[in-house]
Amino acid sequence: MTVAPPFPRAPGFILLGLSIVMATRVFAGCSSGVDADPSADSGADASGESGRAAPKSLCLDGKPAPYPTDTKVDLFGTMPPLELPKLGGGMFAFASRFEPCAARSRILLLRQTASFCGTCLWSQAHTKDVVPAELTDRVELVDLVVSDKNNVLVRTAADVTRAAKELGEHAPIVAADPDYTLQSVGLGDRRLPFYVLIDSRTMLIRRFLADPEPETLSSTIRREVAILDGVAPPKFEPIKYEDDYFPTNHWDMLHDMTLPGPAPKDPTNAVADLPAAAALGKDLFSDVRLSPTSNVSCATCHAPDKGFADGRPKGLGVAEGDRNTPSILYASHARFQFWDGRADTLWLQATGPIENPAEMGSTRLHVAHRIFSTYRARYETIFPADPLPPLDDLTRFPPAGRPGDASWDSMRADDKAAVTRIFVHVAKVIAAFERTLSAKPNALDRYIGGDLAALTVEEKVGLHTFFTAGCAQCHYGPRLTDDAFHNIRFETGRRDGRADPGASIGLPALLANELRKPAYADGPFPEVSLPTDLRELEGSFRTPPLRGVTATAPYGHGGTLPQLADVAKHYGTAGLLETDPRAAGRTEGWVPSFVEQHERELVPAMRLFSGEVVVP
Ligand code: HEC
Ligand code: HEC
Repeated sequence: MTVAPPFPRAPGFILLGLSIVMATRVFAGCSSGVDADPSADSGADASGESGRAAPKSLCLDGKPAPYPTDTKVDLFGTMPPLELPKLGGGMFAFASRFEPCAARSRILLLRQTASFCGTCLWSQAHTKDVVPAELTDRVELVDLVVSDKNNVLVRTAADVTRAAKELGEHAPIVAADPDYTLQSVGLGDRRLPFYVLIDSRTMLIRRFLADPEPETLSSTIRREVAILDGVAPPKFEPIKYEDDYFPTNHWDMLHDMTLPGPAPKDPTNAVADLPAAAALGKDLFSDVRLSPTSNVSCATCHAPDKGFADGRPKGLGVAEGDRNTPSILYASHARFQFWDGRADTLWLQATGPIENPAEMGSTRLHVAHRIFSTYRARYETIFPADPLPPLDDLTRFPPAGRPGDASWDSMRADDKAAVTRIFVHVAKVIAAFERTLSAKPNALDRYIGGDLAALTVEEKVGLHTFFTAGCAQCHYGPRLTDDAFHNIRFETGRRDGRADPGASIGLPALLANELRKPAYADGPFPEVSLPTDLRELEGSFRTPPLRGVTATAPYGHGGTLPQLADVAKHYGTAGLLETDPRAAGRTEGWVPSFVEQHERELVPAMRLFSGEVVVP
């Protein structure tokens, strides 16, 4: 029989009545696999029809039959003869692996993977352990990559090259599969990495495993080879659970959830780690006089006593915006800024709210004058090569103005350039301050540090569910985010009620930003991969970090989910229906759905992701 996990669990991925089947079966861990049928232990089934016993080979009178025409990507269906672009050039053709007259079956082991995905990256790092050592001549592992680290679909040979590098360790063959071809095999469970076992003599899809425990994976491979050979399959290896709840893969990932260290270097900002810059940035962050109405600063919406968010559904400055205010606790670590990625460095981000009419409603000229009147000496110590121009000459430097304003457009070109440099420098010192924020260690950190008593049973069950429900595909690592763009169909926050297109407008805006130019950066900007068809990103938003999430209700880009329990409920049904006009685009294949029990279990886990901010 399969090895039962240490406490009773139903996998609970509810789709098409499958819950009834699944709930009555005991699974190997929670990684699906459809291997709970006790008859599996008895090996070959004489009928050959059940999909469990060795199927009849397609070798007729010693001659290979043609590749089957009746194909369907379904559990127990026949893999179609697809050809996919592969790493190193050329195509990977499934037909090339069809060997109906081979003396013994081989298993084509497909691993559907993506380089944004945390659970995939664990699996990739353990690639050499996937195929049991004694079976390397019987099992061929092939990686089918859906999308890259930003979750841009992998289509071409060039995309595969980039994605393979991001994956690190990978199978000898890596092919592009932007359609996530195998998703229909999992009977509703599509969590990545998603393994499928195919018999080379028939091309029948024999089994699937979604993010399996390492023991379940190797047992399933060994058993399947035995079944295809017509011998009794070996028993399942027992799964090793750490602290009773966590198989090795999830235990490792749990240990990566410990608090982030210092922010990564920012080559575009020469003053990023200068203490004098951080100190000035701290004062500017809460200086309401950078706004012409003298009542809005960064701290209005990113309040230190509210986890550096505002506790409101949507940001309120000079006016109300369309999106929820995120915490900036670990923004300095992020690959992109904003829900839609329209900035990719912290300083470029900071220039946005200052001139945003709904936020601070200010202008770069207004900011330059404020620096001149109040912070001149400190500013010039930090930027000695760039002394302030004579801003007291109001005919050359009007009191307010930004590109598009008459007062700005009539200025001399070199004066405009000088003021824009001040504006960029202000943003860079604010970024230097944001980089100094960190969070206090909490119970989760103590647990990861080795104190197994630091968490309650509910919290451990919650973390277990966090992994088995597929959350760690996207929320993993120290900040619990992949920094990629995803469509989970969270509700819009737009005042006009229309769906928010998210990254499909955010990323083009990033590339078009007038300040994202070498002239303003002290080093190269990060490279950005964009899909050729931006509609692919419609309705996608950046995965927010979860450290500190307890302090930043309400949730989602539209701020429509009041509590963590509401977030869990939203995930339980895999987001809003695709017919619901409050969200744009299509839900991604790997977004999980699950039963109410898991919704309840997830809440104590999310509560562990607290992060009381430390301001130096
Ligand atoms: C009126 C409220 C408001 C003000 C004022 C404001 N912000 Fe924000 N901030 C927001 C909102 C809302 C977002 C998300 C907007 C979006 O993604 O479209 C945001 C996003 C951010 C982010 C990106 C965080 C992430 O994870 O994506 C950073 C960093 C940030 N703000 C820093 C600042 C700084 C620095 C200032 C002052 C120069 C500032 N904010 C002023 C409301 C505000
Ligand atoms: C496919 C990637 C992906 C998966 C899987 C995923 N998330 Fe998310 N998560 C996101 C993205 C993207 C958002 C932002 C969505 C939005 O606002 O449009 C988000 C938002 C959230 C938020 C709101 C945070 C905030 O500050 O507003 C929480 C809490 C959360 N997720 C928890 C979970 C849990 C629990 C699971 C597992 C049931 C999970 N996520 C699975 C990508 C993912």
